[in-house]
Amino acid sequence: IRQSLGARSIVLIGLMGAGKTAVGRRLANRLDLPFIDADTEIELAAGQSIKEIFAEHGEDYFREGERKVIARLLEGGPQVLATGGGAYMNPQTRDAIKAHGLSVWLKADLRVLMKRVQRRDHRPLLATGDPETVMRKLMAERNPVYAEADITVESREVPHDVIVGAVIDAL
Ligand code: S3P
Repeated sequence: IRQSLGARSIVLIGLMGAGKTAVGRRLANRLDLPFIDADTEIELAAGQSIKEIFAEHGEDYFREGERKVIARLLEGGPQVLATGGGAYMNPQTRDAIKAHGLSVWLKADLRVLMKRVQRRDHRPLLATGDPETVMRKLMAERNPVYAEADITVESREVPHDVIVGAVIDAL
């Protein structure tokens, strides 16, 4: 797998709660590649949490920072890169991912996503309305775009290592 990647990174995409960070970390371990979480890198670059960036500067500002950070990170491949749920929706970010990455969509159903996001509350988008209504809307808007990924893996309610195994089989 590492040889066929060359300098490309494995880029995990999908909605909040799909398991991108947890699966990405374990996948990187298994493949002996570095793991990078784009949201964490954005927070480091900004010196603020994502919640603070949204609150102080708004979503457009966040998306521009996200685009720049991901473009920079993609230069440093091969690695496993977990992206925030909205990253792949930005056409420029999507093009950069297509050029420098092998994309993996972690696809999950509403029930699984809601169960996973309920445990944490750092996601400003879900606070803009009833979380389940917001999530349904995001699924309708985003799933057709996520479907452009090179590989799609179902992120079911099983231990993360099982999903990692499914990704490795699909690579
Ligand atoms: C977002 C997802 C978040 C984070 C930000 C916006 C989105 O990342 O980037 O809150 O637009 O779906 P996770 O998908 O890692 O929660």
